[in-house]
Amino acid sequence: MVSSYERIVRPALFRADPEWIHDRSIRFAQRAGFLAPLLDRVFRPADERLAVDVAGLRMRSPIGLAAGYDKNARAVDLLAALGFGHVEVGSISADHSDGNPRPRLFRLPAQDAIIVYYGLPNDGADRVAERLAARRTRVPVGVNVVNTNRRTEEPEDVIIADYVRSVRTLHDHADYLVLNLSCPNTSDGRGFFHEPRRLKLLLEGLTVAKPLFLKVAPFAGTPELDAFLEAVDGFGHVSGFSINLPAGKPEGVVSDLPGAVSGRPAAKRADETIRLLYQRMDRSRFTIIGSGGVFTAADAYRKFRLGASLVQLFTSLVYRGPGVVRSVHDGLAALLERDGVRRIADVVGVGA
Ligand SMILES: Cc1cc2nc3c(=O)[nH]c(=O)nc-3n(C[C@H](O)[C@H](O)[C@H](O)COP(=O)(O)O)c2cc1C
Repeated sequence: MVSSYERIVRPALFRADPEWIHDRSIRFAQRAGFLAPLLDRVFRPADERLAVDVAGLRMRSPIGLAAGYDKNARAVDLLAALGFGHVEVGSISADHSDGNPRPRLFRLPAQDAIIVYYGLPNDGADRVAERLAARRTRVPVGVNVVNTNRRTEEPEDVIIADYVRSVRTLHDHADYLVLNLSCPNTSDGRGFFHEPRRLKLLLEGLTVAKPLFLKVAPFAGTPELDAFLEAVDGFGHVSGFSINLPAGKPEGVVSDLPGAVSGRPAAKRADETIRLLYQRMDRSRFTIIGSGGVFTAADAYRKFRLGASLVQLFTSLVYRGPGVVRSVHDGLAALLERDGVRRIADVVGVGA
């Protein structure tokens, strides 16, 4: 069924420039933060079977908001009130960055997709830490950290020091932390940490007392994934992995525009990566946060069955509107009922 958001609101929003609307929607949500308690009563997931414990965090739902929507943590209270089990903010870097030149965000409505070439614009860790200190929501907030995009090549010690500084600044304001090791849209973000030596240097440099996830792009193959897991192996403070968009265009998307593709076309590679990670990683230590093309409960359920413990969405919020969270929750409850499953955590990995 087509929602009123899709019939009335979306056509109006889609007449405007994508980045302008993204920015306006965040500022609107920031100003409307006082409505959060009311919205929370409407959208809160009602089914106890959806509650999960991941990396020591209790969440009311395994569905979260992916990084990139609220880059600067302006609107966490209102966004959390849409029913999410967690909200991830960022990516945030040690210093402010303007990101890549505009235009850098493009819609592909026929494919329920977005081409994103932002290049990590954000206000910098100090400013974001101040906003996070003022948040009210009790929904867990993940803080996603990345190297400052200065649009020049930088030496490795500078890049690593940048992550370390952000983590230090943001640590106490995060319920969990994510190191974005794989921005598809910056020259040094793409393959820098594929080298195990650098990844070890970074992990050695961090002091972290919060759950820590590593956000990685889909791997070229099993040997690359195994090398990554081996590099992480000695670090007890890593809780798991999150899957980023790959650089380049997925199957079925032909475009000369620069950037990575989110939404429906991103699902296949993401699902393959979840399954492979789940098969190869030490499951007694690590958990997976999956994202990529989650529009329906069936999309999320598939990711849980392949091995994700948490699933995030972003692009479906743009195409389906805020009601998408609730419809995924309702659909998941129906799937659990159909399959006679007691709680969502019981399906994690059963189809890997
Ligand atoms: C406009 C846009 C900006 C994004 N920015 C970030 C980012 O700053 N950091 C990050 O880790 N992921 C970022 N992502 C990736 C999302 O967090 C998510 O992994 C990806 O979009 C797949 O989910 P989706 O298909 O539901 O959108 C961004 C995605 C989009 C569409």
